[in-house]
Amino acid sequence: MMMVPHSFFLLASWIPLALGHSMVYDIWANGRRYNGWNANGDLKAYPTDTPAWFTTNAGGGPLHPSDADQPQIICAKGGSNANMSAPVAAGADVRLRWWMVDQAWPVGHHGPILSYLASCNGPCASVNVTALKFVKLEERGWLNSSTYQEGYWASDEMIANNGTWTIRIPPKLAPGEYVLRHEIIALHVAFTSTGPYSLDGAEFYPQCVSLQVEGTGTKTITGGVDARTLYKGNEPGLTLNIHTSPEHMGYIIPGPPVWTGAD
Ligand SMILES: *[C@@H]1O[C@H](CO)[C@@H](O)[C@H](O)[C@H]1NC(C)=O
Ligand SMILES: *[C@@H]1O[C@H](CO)[C@@H](O)[C@H](O)[C@H]1NC(C)=O
Ligand SMILES: *[C@@H]1O[C@H](CO)[C@@H](O)[C@H](O)[C@H]1NC(C)=O
Ligand SMILES: *[C@@H]1O[C@H](CO)[C@@H](O)[C@H](O)[C@H]1NC(C)=O
Repeated sequence: MMMVPHSFFLLASWIPLALGHSMVYDIWANGRRYNGWNANGDLKAYPTDTPAWFTTNAGGGPLHPSDADQPQIICAKGGSNANMSAPVAAGADVRLRWWMVDQAWPVGHHGPILSYLASCNGPCASVNVTALKFVKLEERGWLNSSTYQEGYWASDEMIANNGTWTIRIPPKLAPGEYVLRHEIIALHVAFTSTGPYSLDGAEFYPQCVSLQVEGTGTKTITGGVDARTLYKGNEPGLTLNIHTSPEHMGYIIPGPPVWTGAD
């Protein structure tokens, strides 16, 4: 990102961006790098060798709380199965990088980052997306009050790490194919009452990646839910005004508690 005055971001965060928002562009697992689905940056040619799910979400635009119970919340608009699953050892890290052509995640789009996992109960290339039952693997939200008027968030940490986010696969997870549902929720225009914000202002950016978990673990996912029930849409973590510190301090990340059943 260019160095521009802080006030630019405050101003920019009020203006709906016509630009893209970046997407999962690189995936690393077991020491290998894979393309995200927008590998060549033209949002057209879907790579043949990517574990990233295809989507029709050209430009990387958001979903909103009114989409929370709709199929597109599961694996993005037009989400359809990746043809391959990236091998990764249980207990190892998967690393994702948000990027698009020459664009990093926009600084003004502060918010939490969450990752979910569902078993495909067979090959992820042919699982019916509506059958996936997700548990939350990890989450980070508001971190502290430094740097920005809105505070320092998981999204800011991701930007500081060159757009990358690391997700640990639980060490005792049973081998098999799984869908990782990774998500940024941008809160810059989430709001509850008066003003130029809207109750439907929170922005969901889900991305799915198919994984082939390897190892000798025995724990299977329990208590997973359809992604269409993760969010109600009007919970406090989706309807606050992050531009005022009393509201963003002590932020409660939406969705179910983190699943620790294979730690
Ligand atoms: C990969 O999957 C997509 C659907 O998600 C399909 O349209 C495409 O033909 C597949 N490509 C290959 C090479 O299998
Ligand atoms: C996926 O499952 C849903 C719900 O059971 C069903 O309506 C839909 O037809 C299925 N899709 C495919 C491609 O089988
Ligand atoms: C805020 O959180 C970030 C990320 O964890 C950290 O790097 C930074 O030092 C923290 N700042 C303060 C003032 O605690
Ligand atoms: C950040 O990512 C870009 C694109 O992959 C890469 O060229 C660059 O070396 C990375 N920078 C760091 C510090 O890792």
